[in-house]
Amino acid sequence: MDAIASREKYRQYVKPEAGLVSRRIFHDEEIYRAELDRIFKRAWLYLAHESEVPDPGDFVHVYMGEEPVILCRDRDGQLYGLVNSCRHRGNRVCRVDRGNARSFVCSYHGWAYNTKGNLIGVPGKTELYKDDIDQPSLGLVRVARIDSYKGLVFGTFDPEAPSLEEFLGDMRWGLDLLLDQGDLVAAPGVVRWNIEGNWKFAADNAIGDMYHAAWTHRSAMLAGHLGGNGAQSLAQYAPTREQKGITLLAAYGHGLNADFAEADEVDLGSPLAAWRLDPTVQARLGPVRSRVQRSNMNVFPNLFVNSGSRDLMVRHPRGPGRMEVRKTVLVDRNASEETRRMQIRSSNRHFGPAGMFEQDDGENWDQSTHGARSLAARDRDLHYAMKLGRARLTRLGDSPPLIEDLVNEHAQLWLYHCWAEFMDAASWPELRAAHTQPTDYFRCATT
Ligand code: FES
Ligand SMILES: [Fe+2]
Repeated sequence: MDAIASREKYRQYVKPEAGLVSRRIFHDEEIYRAELDRIFKRAWLYLAHESEVPDPGDFVHVYMGEEPVILCRDRDGQLYGLVNSCRHRGNRVCRVDRGNARSFVCSYHGWAYNTKGNLIGVPGKTELYKDDIDQPSLGLVRVARIDSYKGLVFGTFDPEAPSLEEFLGDMRWGLDLLLDQGDLVAAPGVVRWNIEGNWKFAADNAIGDMYHAAWTHRSAMLAGHLGGNGAQSLAQYAPTREQKGITLLAAYGHGLNADFAEADEVDLGSPLAAWRLDPTVQARLGPVRSRVQRSNMNVFPNLFVNSGSRDLMVRHPRGPGRMEVRKTVLVDRNASEETRRMQIRSSNRHFGPAGMFEQDDGENWDQSTHGARSLAARDRDLHYAMKLGRARLTRLGDSPPLIEDLVNEHAQLWLYHCWAEFMDAASWPELRAAHTQPTDYFRCATT
């Protein structure tokens, strides 16, 4: 394959100008393997919240794509990302979700690593190896770079990646909707579960699918899951009515969709609305973001953030047809025990492994993934053309350029457009050179 053809290899599956995406990218094993290499081994990936590893020796066990990684705070105060695979036979050296450790000792032959990943102990080093082992070169493989944004810790395996700041770009404006609400810390405990389905269907839903809620979650709403009268909830999520809101597309495939609260919709008595009464927070957020009622966002590739419920969910790929979700709930450091419990309970009822909405969504992603494998329909692309050609970018107050519209499929198309850019680029320098900013993307997409 020549160089130009190889640069277009994945572009053929995504047609933003027609609003079409091939079913193949949701089930093909070869494409999935390429995603691990070109997206998950390259992008900045969310690891954990800083409050999960406050002290020297604290660690959490996380994933970067399929790679098991120990995120650990060393005695020098720095965070290190260590690939959880012993350099002897590859066994895992850490088998728990979180804790505090001075070292990680492999359960197979006992090699020991410190919290920087250096190999500090080899049983039989003198007696069996005759001191002929190059210990300094046998440390755990490290994540190339670790950085954080307002408490969210990210890592990348690629030393050529741009700064986290550049990678997130205008998405920081969106993330601040949550991160500026107060002094937030991760609730204790680890919640994770599996969902059958391709990880991109979850990302595509997170980035701004406000079309689905009243259909997908109709039964849960009628059952009173959102409280009060189910019919009122349904009316609020009415699927076929235009609603006021915004859609933000940010560099490298991130996106957000948020609706504005009408004065009578905000329950100022709820502890989760306390930030609306805090002038400091209001000043930080500015007049536009202060009006936001609820926002869903996806930090490319796989971090879902909900600013209303303060949930962070990473959807780790586990093959083309499966994902493992890890959820973190952020709570206010100063909130009462009762408020924290209320927030965690309500999050688990909504998004957890037994969450009413999570079950609804997971079932759809599972079936969509099955549908993507259809032999009879495989050449019929999926339709992402709602309001295609009708978007205009505008700035509201201090906002970055965004679309003043809530229900549309622009952010989803943007996700797949950027997916193809990641997949076709051979390296970060190539990706940066080829990357279309949203302003340029819309110039093409709207004409
Ligand atoms: S595999 Fe870890 S010590 Fe042998
Ligand atoms: Fe949903």
